[in-house]
Amino acid sequence: MSEQLSDIGLVGLAVMGQNLALNIADHGFRISVYNRTTATMEKFVAENPNTPGGLAGHASLADFVASLKRPRRVIILVKAGAGTDAVIDQLVPLMEQGDIVIDGGNANWNDTIRREKDLKAKGLRFIGSGVSGGEEGARFGPALMPGGDPAAYKEIEAIWNAIAAKVDAETGKPLEGAAPGKPVVGGVPCATFIGPDGAGHYVKMCHNGIEYGDMQMICEAYWMMSSLLGMSADECGKVFAKWNTGVLDSFLIEITADILQQKDPMTGGSIVDYILDTAGQKGTGKWTSVSALDMGVPAATIAESVFARYLSAIKAERVAAAKILTGPTPAFTGDKEACIQAIHDALYCSKICSYAQGFQLMREAQKEYKWKLNFGEISMIWRGGCIIRARFLQKIKEAFDRNGELANLLLDPYFKSEIDRTQSNWRTVVAEASLNGIPVPTFASALAYYDSYRSLRLPANLLQGQRDFFGAHTYERTDQPRGKFYHIDWPEPGRPQLEM
Ligand code: 6PG
Repeated sequence: MSEQLSDIGLVGLAVMGQNLALNIADHGFRISVYNRTTATMEKFVAENPNTPGGLAGHASLADFVASLKRPRRVIILVKAGAGTDAVIDQLVPLMEQGDIVIDGGNANWNDTIRREKDLKAKGLRFIGSGVSGGEEGARFGPALMPGGDPAAYKEIEAIWNAIAAKVDAETGKPLEGAAPGKPVVGGVPCATFIGPDGAGHYVKMCHNGIEYGDMQMICEAYWMMSSLLGMSADECGKVFAKWNTGVLDSFLIEITADILQQKDPMTGGSIVDYILDTAGQKGTGKWTSVSALDMGVPAATIAESVFARYLSAIKAERVAAAKILTGPTPAFTGDKEACIQAIHDALYCSKICSYAQGFQLMREAQKEYKWKLNFGEISMIWRGGCIIRARFLQKIKEAFDRNGELANLLLDPYFKSEIDRTQSNWRTVVAEASLNGIPVPTFASALAYYDSYRSLRLPANLLQGQRDFFGAHTYERTDQPRGKFYHIDWPEPGRPQLEM
C-alpha cells in the first residue's frame, strides 16, 4: 500500500514550527515535517503520535516533498533571512510547476517581493505570510497575514482559516479555550489575504512596529507610577489588571499585570525589579521606522519606541552619565488616584496616535507598492491571536467600516471624542513627567504628533526661509497658489536687512 500523502508540509521544527504543525494536525490536516537536525524531527513526531490529522516525519527533503499532495504546499518556518533562502534553494529542484512555498517567518517584505519574483520565474508560487501570536498563538490560533499569489492562497485558505485564532462575529472578542486536539469551533478566523507579493509581510511588520509602540507606552505608564508615585511593581500590576477591564483591555496589558505581580523565584521579590533594564530586538520595529522615513510618513511615536530600546541598551553609558548629569528629583504631592487615571489616559491617547501612524504608514505603502489594502479587514484580523490583540481593534475596525478612505484614525468621530475626553490628562502627565525628569518618550512624541497634526500652521515657514537662505531651495507663498516656487536674494549672513 502506498503511503498516505500529506495535505501540507513544514520545514523548520523550532518551537514556532512545532506548534504550528500541531495546530494544523489538530484541525484534521495531515502534515509532513522536516528539520535540518533529524533527531529533533524524530523526537517531535514520537512525542505526538495521536494528532487528529497525523504527523509524518521525513529525514530527507526529497522524501518530504514526495510525501505531499499536489500542488505541494510547503511552509518554511526558519530564522528569517539567509536561512529562508537556503531552504528555498534546496526545495526548488524538488518541486514542480505550480507548487507553493509559504514563508511564515518574520521576513523583510523586500525579501518577500524578491522571492516571489524569483520563484515565479521558476514556475513556483510563493506566499509570504505574517504569523503573529508567539508560541501560544502558533499552537492554538495565530493571526495570519498572507500575501503573494492570490490563486496560491486559495490553495491554503482552508488550512489558514482553520488554524487561525477566532473572534466572536458580533463583539470581536477572541474565542478562547483551544486545547491540544480540541480546537475552538466557530467564530470569525483572524486570517485574510492581504495583497500581492510582500503585502502580508509588510502588514506583519507594521503590526510589530505598533507592538513596539504599545510595549514602550505600557513601560512609560509603569515608570510614571513607579518613579513619580513610588508604587511597587505589585501595586502597578494591580492597576494594569484593573485597566484590562476597560478601554485598554488587551493581551499586552494583561501580561503586563501578570509580569508586574510575578515573584522572583530566587529572592521572593518582584521579578521586574531583578530584570536588567536593557531591551533587545530582532529588527521589525526598526524596519517599520526605516520604511516610514523612506516614504516620508511621520510615524514618530513608533520610531521613538525603537530609539527607547536603543537608549535602554547603552546601559554602561547611562550608568556613567547618571553620575554626571543632573535633573529634578521626582516628587509628587497631588491626588494619587487622579494621577493614576491621568497616566491611563496618557497611555490611551498615545496608543491612538501610534495606531494612527501605523495605519498611515500602511496607507502610504499601498501607494508605493501598488497594493490595495483593506484596513477594516486588517484591524479585524488583529482582534485575536496576535500580540497586539485588543478590544481597541474592534473600534478601529468600526472606524474603517464607517469610512474605508479614512485619512487618519484621529479624524474618526469615535477616536476624536475619546481624545477630546482624555487629552487634558495626557497633557498633565507629559508636563509632570517633564517637570520631574522622568522620560516618557512615546507619550511626549505622540502628543507632539497630535498637536502638529491638528496645527493649521507650523514653523516650517521659517525652515523654508532658512533653506532658501543658504541653498536657494525656494519656498511657496501663503498668498499664492500651491506649486509656485519663489526665491529671494537674501543678504549676506550678519548683514542688515535689504531695504524694499
Ligand atoms: C508576533 C511577534 C513576534 C516577534 C516578537 C519579538 O507577532 O508574534 O511580533 O513576531 O518576533 O514579538 O520581537 P522583538 O524581538 O523584535 O521584540
